[in-house]
Parts: sequence; C-alpha cells; structure tokens
Amino acid sequence: MIRINENYLKLQSSYLFVEIANRVSAFQKQNPDFKIIRLGIGDVTRALPPACIQAFHQGVEEMASDTTFRGYGPEQGYAFLREKIAQNDYQSRGADINPDEIFVSDGSKCDTANMQELFATDIRLAIPDPVYPVYLDTNVMAGRTGSFDGGRYAKILYLDSLPQNGFVPDLPAESVDLIYLCFPNNPTGATISREILKTWVDFARENRALILYDAAYEAFIRDQRLPRSIYEIEGGREVAIEFRSFSKTAGFTGTRCAFTVVPKSCMAYDNSGQRHSLHALWNRRHSTKFNGVSYPVQKAAEAVYSEAGKGQVRELVDYYLGNAALIRQEMAALGFEFVGGENSPYIWVNCKRDAWEFFDLLLKKAGVVTTPGPGFGKCGQGFIRISAFNSYENVKSAMLKIKEVLGAL
Ligand code: MLT
Repeated sequence: MIRINENYLKLQSSYLFVEIANRVSAFQKQNPDFKIIRLGIGDVTRALPPACIQAFHQGVEEMASDTTFRGYGPEQGYAFLREKIAQNDYQSRGADINPDEIFVSDGSKCDTANMQELFATDIRLAIPDPVYPVYLDTNVMAGRTGSFDGGRYAKILYLDSLPQNGFVPDLPAESVDLIYLCFPNNPTGATISREILKTWVDFARENRALILYDAAYEAFIRDQRLPRSIYEIEGGREVAIEFRSFSKTAGFTGTRCAFTVVPKSCMAYDNSGQRHSLHALWNRRHSTKFNGVSYPVQKAAEAVYSEAGKGQVRELVDYYLGNAALIRQEMAALGFEFVGGENSPYIWVNCKRDAWEFFDLLLKKAGVVTTPGPGFGKCGQGFIRISAFNSYENVKSAMLKIKEVLGAL
C-alpha cells in the first residue's frame, strides 16, 4: 500500500499566495468588469533591463550554432557569473566571499525551501513571526515542527516581530540550532542594523547554531549604514548561509536566476559532535538534484554587473521605491501606522481591524489586492502587506480608490 508523508497533513490550507489568487479570481469571475490592481504577491511588472535583454539574446544566438552551443553547464553555475557576484556583491563591500562559495540556482524560494534537507529532523528551529511561509511550510513537510495547535506549531521557537521591538525579533532566551532571518524583511519591510545583526552572529557562534539569512531584497537598501550582507559582519562567514536573488533586483521573477552563498568555513555537526562542511554537503545535494540554470539566463544575470546593467538595475529598483514612497505618503495621510517601504518594496500596515476583513474590503470595494498579515503568522493579525511592485499609475489609482472607500466608511 502506497502511504503518504503524513507531515503534509499538518500544513495549514493551501500556500498563501495560491489562496489569495483563488479568492481574487473567484471575485473577478463574479465581477468581470471590476478593475483589479494587484499589490499582493511581490511580483515585478517592469521589463528586464536592456543590458540583460541584450546578453540574453546573445546567449540564445550562441545556442543556435554548433560551434558555440552549450549542453549541460556546471551545476553550481558558470564561472563568469560566480566571479562577478563574488567581486561585486561581496569583495567590493569588504566581505570575504569567493566564487566557489556561490551556488547559482533558479530561485531563492527553492533554495530556502531545500536547504533544510541538510539538517537533522530533531533540531530546534527559530522562525520569525510574521514570516515568508516557505521557511515554515518546508519544515512542516520535513517533520520538524510537531502539530499545529492554537495557531502555532508545537516545536518551533517563534521569533515575534512586533511594533514593540521595531519588527526586529529579540534574541532567543534559549539555545536553538537553526535560525531563519530575512532583511530587508518579507513581509514587514523592516531592516536590521549592523549592531543588531552582530548580536545574532555572536549568538549563533556561542550556540554552534546556523543562520539562514535571506537577503533577496538587499537591492532596495538605500541607507548606507545598513548591512547588505551578513558577511559584512565579523564572524558571519562561520555561521551563516545567505540567499540572494535576481528576481526583485533585476526583474527576473519569470526568468529565474538566484544564488546561495555557502562559505567553506560554515560547519555543522553529526551525532558524535564531529564537524562537517556545509559547503560539501550542499554541493553534494545541488549536483545530485539540480542541473544548473540555462546558459542564456546566466548571461542575462551576468549583465546585471556590467556598467550599463548597474545603472539600469538601480533605476528599476528606484522606480519601485518611488511607488513605495507614494504608498507610505497616502497611508500616512489616511492615519495608518506602518513600517517598511524605505529600504524595501513592502509596506506593513497596521489596519486597526481584522486583517482578512480589511483585505476583503480593499478587494471588493476598492479593487485592490493586498496580502493579509495572518497569512504570514499569528503576529500578522491586524496587519496587511502592500507591495510596491506595479506601475506608478496603478499604484496611484489604487491609493485613490482606497482613499475613496475608507473616506466613505
Ligand atoms: C512575496 O510576495 O512574498 C514574494 O513574491 C514571494 C516570493 O518571492 O516567492
């Protein structure tokens, strides 16, 4: 008899963004003429930067001739891309990361989801609340979380991110083994200072723990004082794996290219306390289960680091930050409190009522899709996330409609 992995039965309903898409499409079906503006899922709307498109085309052209055609590439990514990443994203900022510590992949969602495979199922996990649901759900699937009771999984240590702590969780009062952090944060848009990030690195060192650091929104940081990478922090190389993506940085959500940094100095332990290189384990996993990102896509990603590409990417990110500034301005004028939107594309709004109710109101009356906070965890109750990924015109009309609807209440 074929049997299932019963941990799947512990998952809560469907994946958040699928649930929202279903609700929106059911509403649209009933109201086909109602204009809907999507500020829900963080999906980019603007074209790839011209430098990336040009390199993408060249990559495709090379595939069209026997002399330049390429079959399987290195699973870890082509050296031309890994070298550019190491140089531009790390070494230029004083972070000691080498090209062979970089693993190119098709997305940070998959990498953050897959990384937990390297660890024992009885380790103690610390996961922020609210959180990008992938970290939690993949650990549920793997059987690390225990049962769901009273809105939370029994075996997880939740790191509450609330107005009281500026949406940056406090250090755990007890020892944990694996810690998920994401800055600039999804969903709150909060950022972390160097000093606070250093306390997390020190905590991990003291507890022989590992930090999985999701920096997918790093390109949105405009405040020079903020760290863009955990490897800018002393000791980070020993205790952290970092995830980065071209999705939000350069509009690659549909093109698919990201990378994960696993420093060679990062270790984990077996049952007898012996040290093992996480780089070696991840390399084994990656080369067994993944066949690399396509050559033209890696050429397109490489162009992000060309002189023209750098300028175009900055302009692209500035465009979305302009939307975020407009959302902040309008929500403030309406009397809401919020965090994010300055060094992040997300604005986390205290909606002063039930979040799903507010989500429904904005969808059905204003035609604006947001993301209800409870979808990211218990601490998300009373909040909604507004994404700045859309055209400026759409964001402007979404804000006008919200103003009308709330003004009429
Ligand atoms: C989000 O809206 O949180 C993101 O788009 C999800 C993702 O990047 O997978």
